Amino acid sequence: MKPDIERSKMTSERTKELLQADLEHVVHPFCVVGENLGIVFEKSHGIYLVDTEGKEYIDLSSQLVCCNLGHNCRAIVDAVIEALGNIDYVTSFYGATNTYAIELSQKLAKLTPGGLRYFLYTSGGSEAIDSALKIARSYWYFKGQANRYKIISLYHGYHGLSGYSTYVTGLGAGAINNPFGPPPVGFVRVPSYYSYRSMFGDAPDSGMLSARLLESVIWEEGPDSIAAFIAEPIMGSAGCIEPPPEWWPRVMEICKRHNILLITDEVMTGFARTGKMFASEHWDIRPDIMTMAKGISGTVIPFGAVAFSDEVYSAFKGKLFMHGFTYTGHPIGCAAAIAAIDYYVQEKLVEHAADLGKHIRQRLENEFLPLPCVGLVEGRGLFQAMELVEDKESRRPLRRDLREGLWHKLLENGIFTRLVGPRTNRIQICPPCIITREEADEALDVLLSLMAAIKPC
Ligand SMILES: Cc1ncc(COP(=O)(O)O)c(C=O)c1O
Repeated sequence: MKPDIERSKMTSERTKELLQADLEHVVHPFCVVGENLGIVFEKSHGIYLVDTEGKEYIDLSSQLVCCNLGHNCRAIVDAVIEALGNIDYVTSFYGATNTYAIELSQKLAKLTPGGLRYFLYTSGGSEAIDSALKIARSYWYFKGQANRYKIISLYHGYHGLSGYSTYVTGLGAGAINNPFGPPPVGFVRVPSYYSYRSMFGDAPDSGMLSARLLESVIWEEGPDSIAAFIAEPIMGSAGCIEPPPEWWPRVMEICKRHNILLITDEVMTGFARTGKMFASEHWDIRPDIMTMAKGISGTVIPFGAVAFSDEVYSAFKGKLFMHGFTYTGHPIGCAAAIAAIDYYVQEKLVEHAADLGKHIRQRLENEFLPLPCVGLVEGRGLFQAMELVEDKESRRPLRRDLREGLWHKLLENGIFTRLVGPRTNRIQICPPCIITREEADEALDVLLSLMAAIKPC
């Protein structure tokens, strides 16, 4: 993304020097190498980010949909500082433990869907996914069925970019996989339920076709060769895409019937985001394994977790578990997560996300959907997105220059959100769960005026 020329004329020498130093030394994910956004952030508070020019931006995407508690949440910052006064780090290897990891596990065990009560901690989402996949495979290994090694995931699903997580990620699979050589064996993707632009073309009920195809693929691959199926409850980076109501019940039934472990990825949807503590609760999904990150620690400290069921745990009990990371169970990450969970509960942020989400959704439907450039509004709670189109009839994605122009104008007007999805033409409305109705309305007013000015054709 090229820096805004007009803006850069007005920026201070300090900012220009910082941006130049950034270009000389820093490589940015999901960005053309050798470019940056032309903004340097140096402070944050509540729903705001502040740049080196002192300009404030409303964070309408909670960054990568992770700052659920806003920025610099005092309760978490204080908890981290207090914990640092007690202990900085101790390994979790060899059975060493710490008070924070124990307390966090007790808290999570009371929250997780389906009573998952065993936890392995990580430094983020991708590590959690890699761990979940290794746990699924080794579950079958320890059960004497090492031939069950295949993992099925969805095109359009996003699960991160480390080792195995890269290969279950289906969103932009070619771009994400191809530069890194052939993928390892044992990873199978099936079309998702994204029906606005379905991989099944115009077929009726294409959302549910995805579940039917999942079962066909299981039969063709051989049910006894499949370790697990992994999916997000609602596809986040694809643009808050929801399955049809019967999709999850059907998929759960298929997994159960074929004895395939179900892994739900709550890295983005967890912790109040969708108006439930976990999005799995919308469909009463009972996963065998579940991943968490982002909102778990309010993002103050990089942190993640894998939760697993009694049944999965029972296969490991008494065996040597040869997996983990230096930062597994990091006391400070655990302390941040304890404080974050307390904050979600005390401040009733699940209820707030559900209520405010309804208001935002109403505004999106009543005021934005009639605009020529909006094809669809979708999502739950504070996890909403709009699909940007050239025209509603053809559903052609809005031209790239118009999409990116909108993004730049939003930044100029002090709004930070992001464009996501298979065609990067979905704009996310995922503010921190602490945002007030007035603040959300202020951001939506700006967005509305800019989107109303778009002349797609
Ligand atoms: C659903 C989901 N899973 C996994 C990940 C990977 O998490 P991380 O970027 O912390 O490695 C993400 C990141 O956006 C995600 O949205």
